[in-house]
Amino acid sequence: MLTVGVIGCGYWGPNLIRNFVNLKNSRVTACADISQERLDHMKQLYPTIETTTNFKEIIDDPEIDAVVIATPVSSHHTIAHVAIEAGKHVFVEKPLADSVEKGTKLVEFAGGRKRILMVGHTFVYTAAVNKIKELIHSGDLGDIYYISSSRVNLGIFQDDINVVWDLAPHDISIMNYILNSRPEAISAIGHSYIRPEIEDVAFITLIYPNSVHANIQVSWLNPNKIRKTTVVGSKKMLVYDDVSSLEKIRIYDKGVTVQPHYDTFGEFQLSYRYGDISIPKLDDAEPLKIECQHFIDCIEKGELPRSSGVHGLEVLLALDAAGRSMKAQGQIVHIEYPDLTVTE
Ligand SMILES: NC(=O)c1ccc[n+]([C@@H]2O[C@H](COP(=O)([O-])OP(=O)(O)OC[C@H]3O[C@@H](n4cnc5c(N)ncnc54)[C@H](O)[C@@H]3O)[C@@H](O)[C@H]2O)c1
Repeated sequence: MLTVGVIGCGYWGPNLIRNFVNLKNSRVTACADISQERLDHMKQLYPTIETTTNFKEIIDDPEIDAVVIATPVSSHHTIAHVAIEAGKHVFVEKPLADSVEKGTKLVEFAGGRKRILMVGHTFVYTAAVNKIKELIHSGDLGDIYYISSSRVNLGIFQDDINVVWDLAPHDISIMNYILNSRPEAISAIGHSYIRPEIEDVAFITLIYPNSVHANIQVSWLNPNKIRKTTVVGSKKMLVYDDVSSLEKIRIYDKGVTVQPHYDTFGEFQLSYRYGDISIPKLDDAEPLKIECQHFIDCIEKGELPRSSGVHGLEVLLALDAAGRSMKAQGQIVHIEYPDLTVTE
């Protein structure tokens, strides 16, 4: 039984507390928040959990094995660093930190101290994303041409980060995971319509190896809530709609082939295939439960998490490149990946 302390009990923290409380091999003994109101609410839900406004009490508690951080992004690095220093394993919500520099330091620090560092990239624990990864790597979709994704809604406007840092971590984490790859270069255009300097709409193009292109649209300024990803392959195409409860993935047996024999351009012909549409049945387990269980299992077995510190850092490198490209009106920014495999 591992003992967990949770720091940050705002919107997302209580979901993490609920899951760690309900797992067979973990228990939550303490939670921290600077808001007494949030702590009173937590006490009402879980009377046996100790509460504190000083997160250091959790870090200093020798009974606590692992610390879960669900505070605003700007505080992730400071809290995670002192937790690792105190010998705790750390689960930090996405994104890992608010800069590549701080993210790199955390990955190196956790690696050096042999502590598990996991980032809350929840989507890599969903049945839908894992099904897409399976379909890509079994060759069912053929060669992947491109991926396009929309994650838009009206709000919620954040104060400390722009829309790219708020919403695109999900898409970048999903794309890196399903492709088992990482972008070599990025170009992005962002707009700040409502508040100066904080982009609320952005269009990001990611260039992966083997000519795979991806596009992500993120926005806090859209009348509809859309979470849709289209993967187009040479054999089949699929649409993943995360808002749909029953038909999250639709696989289209559609494609275009060039007729093999032609002598002149006039004879050049394309044939279109309009085949069946299939909807795979997906496991409906709560992804956050799988994610929390995975964190505990990785601590117990000393294994590298699926959403490891390095995975989180690769997402930060892409976010940083998107930011630099936006400042340069969409110029292509190449990404250099540090070699951190030895530190994990
Ligand atoms: N994985 C997901 O799908 C998902 C979804 C939502 C949010 N998140 C992430 O969770 C994190 C928190 O987001 P949120 O929406 O819950 O934010 P929030 O503002 O609702 O909650 C953050 C809480 O942290 C507390 N806090 C701030 N500084 C603190 C400190 N030094 N010590 C203790 N408590 C402190 C605040 O009082 C607040 O209650 C962010 O990193 C966000 O990206 C992840």
